[in-house]
Amino acid sequence: MIPVKLSNTTQSSIVAMGTRLTKAMKETGQEYLMLNRGVNSVVTIELSEVIKSIDFNSTDIQVYPATNGKMELLKAINQEYFANQATVNNILVTGGGISGLDISLQNIQVKKVLLPPLFWGTYSQLLSLRGLSFESYSNYEWFAENTNKLSGTAVIICDPGNPAGEKYPDAQLLELIQNLNKNGVIVLFDSPYRRLFHNHSDTLFQELMNLEHVIIIESFSKSLGLSGQRIGFIHNIQQSFINEAALRLMYATNGVNSFAQVLVTRLLATPEGIRAVSDFKKVTTEHIEANIAFLHENQLLASRFYQDSKPLGIFAIVDRSPEELFQQRIGSVGLDYFTMTSFEGMENLSRILVSFPHEKFVSFFRSFL
Ligand SMILES: Cc1ncc(COP(=O)(O)O)c(C=O)c1O
Repeated sequence: MIPVKLSNTTQSSIVAMGTRLTKAMKETGQEYLMLNRGVNSVVTIELSEVIKSIDFNSTDIQVYPATNGKMELLKAINQEYFANQATVNNILVTGGGISGLDISLQNIQVKKVLLPPLFWGTYSQLLSLRGLSFESYSNYEWFAENTNKLSGTAVIICDPGNPAGEKYPDAQLLELIQNLNKNGVIVLFDSPYRRLFHNHSDTLFQELMNLEHVIIIESFSKSLGLSGQRIGFIHNIQQSFINEAALRLMYATNGVNSFAQVLVTRLLATPEGIRAVSDFKKVTTEHIEANIAFLHENQLLASRFYQDSKPLGIFAIVDRSPEELFQQRIGSVGLDYFTMTSFEGMENLSRILVSFPHEKFVSFFRSFL
């Protein structure tokens, strides 16, 4: 028998619900909506034109990639996300957002990590895996009232959020992050849903990039619809942080998949790529908006989660339990996966994906009206 070191983590409830839905579909022969997942599902990004220009036989694809990422991709990221104002050496291409998060958590020395009140359950799993202690903050005002508790901590900020899809005003976010940075608090800005709703004209990363304690963690899984490619990046202005992160990445992976790097470069930096991304974002966000409006108009949206923020997507919280939704053949995830503190009525709430074709979405939810 192999003596196994325990990871101190558990299987995600999102995956567990997926398994249940697949089983139900097989048994009943009926369709179930996979709204438990965090995958944009309105359309897939149309890659045909972009792929035509890629030479799969080139050494560019067939050999080990450079540790920090291919120079063409680093330049394209700098252009798209930082208006060419960042230094490419401060950017590290990672195997998706989860890899960027995990490497960052391995790379920082802190006493504790503070999580949003509702957070992606994987944060706490990763923190357990890396032996870091954590607690959650109640809202953004909490920081102003608890400055004495902030020394030696890191904070994760995710906006729009997962599971609620809530979006706070950028000015408020920026002020909060600048204050945390000034107080020496490390900020992990993990907001992979943001760029679905923005293009290169978004200036937030430029405003964050010179803050020394801010680590930007970005992913191409959501904003480019490439969750299968496992690619993203991190940015921090402190070179020793990026260098150490690059070493951790190299010894874990030997570099990030070359094909994915070439593909993303084409999507960010060629006319046909930019067109494909723009079409994908346009159609996806139109359906998201229509689905949220439908939930709101029909009193299905749990509006208490959007008092100071607005529901933007790609998720929303609905006033129905996972079981009630399952009865109507809709997959979802219960809120217990997204919080450390239970609250009254939590069992009657669920996270659903709203990045889904509007007509079909409505046809399944109509049974609740
Ligand atoms: C809040 C948040 N951060 C990061 C990720 C990581 O995504 P990926 O590893 O596909 O880039 C996810 C994925 O669901 C997420 O919800």
